[in-house]
Amino acid sequence: MLDPRGVTDELRARVRAELPEVEEIRNPELATKVVEAWALALASSSFGAIAEIEPSGNPGVNTLKRGSQTDHVRGVTRMAMALADQLSGLLPDLKVDRDLLIAGALCHDIGKPWEFDPENRRRWEGKPRRAGLPSIRHPAFGVHVCLSVGLPEEVAHCAAAHSGEGELLVRSLENTIVHHADYAFWGICRAGDLLKPESIAELKVRH
Ligand SMILES: [Fe+2]
Repeated sequence: MLDPRGVTDELRARVRAELPEVEEIRNPELATKVVEAWALALASSSFGAIAEIEPSGNPGVNTLKRGSQTDHVRGVTRMAMALADQLSGLLPDLKVDRDLLIAGALCHDIGKPWEFDPENRRRWEGKPRRAGLPSIRHPAFGVHVCLSVGLPEEVAHCAAAHSGEGELLVRSLENTIVHHADYAFWGICRAGDLLKPESIAELKVRH
């Protein structure tokens, strides 16, 4: 569970270095909370950096041949910004909150340090009927992280509903963009032969 004891300035600086797109957020308080949320998620896991997390959509599913989880988070964030900027340039009635979009994209997979943590995986795989496998998927755990550092509900919503969970509700405009960017990332990587063939699961599209 969440443990803020390992959150240090060094870890915060590492998160900022791993996710330079944080600088695109105009509201400094929002940017600080995004960094705080990632630092808390990492400090509560076995991982010391986002780059240490397996570069997959779900554990063992859609795994990049090369690169890291930062490439996924940054790629989704860059695509989300491009989608919003390009479309609103053409369609001025499209009112995207760019700060919330960037924060939501950067935080959409913030529950992965929990779901991908090797210690948690061992526990869940050893006794799947005890707490579940996984006990809590990264979208739900991501909500826990986001709200714990005081991020707005709009950002927590992107963590909550970027993936299959979002089929049970109405996605916000910003989360709709994040959702499409997220699925596009894996679809494009697959088409570009960037995924390990054994990790490609036709029907396992939940990420
Ligand atoms: Fe993702």
